[in-house]
Amino acid sequence: MKHEPSKREIAFTKFFLHTPAKTIYRSFADSISLQGHEKVLDFGSGYGTVAKWVAPKLTSGQLTCADISSIWQAECRNHLAKYKNITYFNDDIYHLDPSEQFDIIYAHFVLHDLPYPELKKVIPHLIKLLKIGGKLYIREPVSDRNKFHTICKLLLQQKLQVLQTNQHLIPLMGTSFDIHYQKRALNHFNAPHTPPKSGQTGPG
Ligand SMILES: C[S@@+](CC[C@H](N)C(=O)[O-])C[C@H]1O[C@@H](n2cnc3c(N)ncnc32)[C@H](O)[C@@H]1O
Repeated sequence: MKHEPSKREIAFTKFFLHTPAKTIYRSFADSISLQGHEKVLDFGSGYGTVAKWVAPKLTSGQLTCADISSIWQAECRNHLAKYKNITYFNDDIYHLDPSEQFDIIYAHFVLHDLPYPELKKVIPHLIKLLKIGGKLYIREPVSDRNKFHTICKLLLQQKLQVLQTNQHLIPLMGTSFDIHYQKRALNHFNAPHTPPKSGQTGPG
C-alpha cells in the first residue's frame, strides 16, 4: 500500500536511530543467520533501519532494499550510500520478478500495515521470491490480533516450516513476535495456527 511519509515521520525515524532504542533494529538484524555470501531481500526497507546492520555483514553477498515509497527509498539510498552491495527496488514488491531468487527475505514491521487483499497477494509472491531452503524472517506486532493471526495463517498456507518464534516488548509497538520460517520443497500438513509462545522452537 503506497503511503509517502511526512517530514515529521522521517525526522522521527532518524532521531529514533540515534537513541538506545535503535537496538530493536540491530537485534532483528542479528537474529538473521548470515554467512556473508547470501542474496537478501529487505521487503519494506523504509529508511534502511535494519539494512544498516545487514549490509556490512554481506561481505560477498547482495542486499536488495525494496520499498514502494519513493521518499523512503531516496532517504534509504542517502542513508546507506556507503554500502556498494545494496541494490534498490522502488515499486510494489508484487512487481519484483520471481526469477530473482533470494536466500533470505526479511520484513520488519511491514505486513501488519497491509490490508487483507494486499496481504493475500503479497505473501504468496514473497514466497515465490524465496529459494527452496531459503529463510523468511518477520517481526510483527500483535496489538491487532486478527491481523496478526491472518498474517500467520496466510504464511502457513505456503510451503513454509516454522523454525523459531520469539516474543519481545518493543517501544511504541508493544508485544511483537519474531518468526523464522524455512521454505520447503513439498507442501505438507501444517497444524492449525495458534499464537506462538515466546522462545518456542518449531520442529527441526
Ligand atoms: C512501517 S514501514 C517499516 C520500515 C522498516 N522495515 C522499519 O522497520 O523501519 C513499512 C514500509 O513498507 C513499505 N511497503 C508497504 N507496502 C509495500 C509493498 N507492497 N511493496 C513494497 N514496499 C511496501 C512502506 O512504504 C514502508 O516504507
